Amino acid sequence: MISLMKMDYKLNSTKTYHVNELNTLGWELTVCNALYPPQTPLRKILARNDSYGHFLYDYLCRFLPMENLRNVIEIGGGYGYLMKDFLDRNGSLRPCMVDISPFLLERQKETLEGYEASYRREDFLETDPAALTAFDLAVLNENLGDFPTLINLNEEFFDPSSRTADPNVRRALALFERYHFNRPEKRLFNFNIGAIEALEKICASGIPHVYLSEHSCEATVPRHLQAVIHVDSQGSPERISLKGHDEYSIKMSYLEKVAHAFGYTSVRGPFADFIPVAFTDRLRVILVSQGRYGDEDEMICQFVEDLYKYEYLILTKE
Ligand SMILES: C[S@@+](CC[C@H](N)C(=O)[O-])C[C@H]1O[C@@H](n2cnc3c(N)ncnc32)[C@H](O)[C@@H]1O
Repeated sequence: MISLMKMDYKLNSTKTYHVNELNTLGWELTVCNALYPPQTPLRKILARNDSYGHFLYDYLCRFLPMENLRNVIEIGGGYGYLMKDFLDRNGSLRPCMVDISPFLLERQKETLEGYEASYRREDFLETDPAALTAFDLAVLNENLGDFPTLINLNEEFFDPSSRTADPNVRRALALFERYHFNRPEKRLFNFNIGAIEALEKICASGIPHVYLSEHSCEATVPRHLQAVIHVDSQGSPERISLKGHDEYSIKMSYLEKVAHAFGYTSVRGPFADFIPVAFTDRLRVILVSQGRYGDEDEMICQFVEDLYKYEYLILTKE
C-alpha cells in the first residue's frame, strides 16, 4: 500500500499476470467463451442456438453500418472467438488484434487462421494513439476490468491540501475534474483509471464506432425478473478475485460521460438485450432453486445472472 497521503490506496495491475503467467481463460469463463461451444447446455435456454459474436454482430447492425465497416481493432480479444464470428458474418472486415498476453495472441492467430488479420502484442495503454486513427470500429469485450484500478481511495483524494506527487492519483483527479464525475458516496472507493484512460484514448483518436462491455457495478435487473435473478450492484467498482489476479467491475456511467464529452452518442444496456433468453417454466424453476439441483443448473443460473451483470456501451461519433 502507498501512504503518500493519509490514505492507504494502491494501484491494482494485472499486467504481470497477463504477460508472464496467463495460460488459460478457463478460470474466468467469459460470456463470449461460455457460449462458443455449439454443444454447451447454455445455448438450450436461449431463444436461438447461436454464439456470442453472432448475436452481437446482428444486434450491432441495428445501430451501426456494419456492412460498410472494414478496419476493426479488437483490444483484448481472448481466444479470438468474437472476431471469428464477426468474420463469419462479414468477410470484408480487416481486424487488428491488440493484446498484452503473448499466450492469447497466439490463440487468436490459431482461431483466425486463413483470415487477413494483423496482430500487435502490447499493453493498450501504451499503444501509440496515432496508430488508431485508421479504424472504423473498436471492440473491447469483457476486458476493461483487467485495466489498472486505484483501490481504497477515500475523501482525502479530493482534498487540495493532501495533493500528492503520485502520477496515478494526479491523473485520476484530473479525470474527475475534466469529466465532472460525481463524487462516490462511499467512504472507501475504487476508481477504474485504466478503463477510463483507454476509452479516452479511443475517443480522442476519433474512431467513429466503439463497442465495449464489462461486468458493471451499476447493473440492474428489470422489475419483473427481480424475483428470479439476483444482482446486487454497489455503484462503486468491486473486486473480483480470479486465478493469479484481481480485476474490478466497471462504473459504466463514468465511461459514458467520457464518450459524451468527445461528442459520441451512447446506447447502454445488459447483455440480455441481445442474448435472448427463453424464460420457460423449467428455466424459472432452475432460477428459483438457484441451481441447487445440479452442476448444469448452477452453470445456467450463473450465466443468466451474468446476462444482467454485464453491460455494454455502443458509441457513435456524431
Ligand atoms: C477476460 S479476457 C476477455 C477476452 C475476450 N474479449 C472475451 O470476451 O472472451 C481479457 C482480455 O484482455 C486482454 N488484456 C488485459 N489487459 C490488457 C491491456 N492492458 N492491453 C491489451 N490487452 C489486455 C487479456 O490478455 C485478454 O485477452
